[in-house]
Amino acid sequence: MSNCNCLQEEAKREALEKVFERYAGQRGALIPLLQEAQEIYGYLPGEVLREIARRLRIPFSQVFGVATFYTQFHLKPRGRNIVRICQGTACHVRGASRVFEAVSQKLGIGRNETTPDLRYTLETVACLGACGLAPAMMVNDDTHGRLTPERAASVLEQYK
Ligand code: FES
Repeated sequence: MSNCNCLQEEAKREALEKVFERYAGQRGALIPLLQEAQEIYGYLPGEVLREIARRLRIPFSQVFGVATFYTQFHLKPRGRNIVRICQGTACHVRGASRVFEAVSQKLGIGRNETTPDLRYTLETVACLGACGLAPAMMVNDDTHGRLTPERAASVLEQYK
């Protein structure tokens, strides 16, 4: 591991330690702790879940159960760019499946998967609230509408 990575890991450990200090002795700290730990790490590594269980003096199975119950929590690393392709009715009738196929093929991953270089995570959503722009997808905070399969695939290039 390079020094750079070690330092990043150390900074994350320190940030997590501060979070533990802030919630020390508080009831109902599990969910906020998971949220803040995920903000620090980008996801919830197994050792962080174990540390949370230890600090809160609760069973690991309880921490794991909560972390897997809520869709907001991620137990695997996620990509730097989150691609959300709408599968809602308005987008569906305008070819959202073909858009999804094109993006999935370009990235070489399926739904809820992440590219090995951690550049993209591919997800689907029920409606992006941009039905007038169907078929639509979001990449991070940007909405892209009136997509063709070709355009959807090429839009991704701009996200490094
Ligand atoms: S159905 Fe796709 S944005 Fe609403």
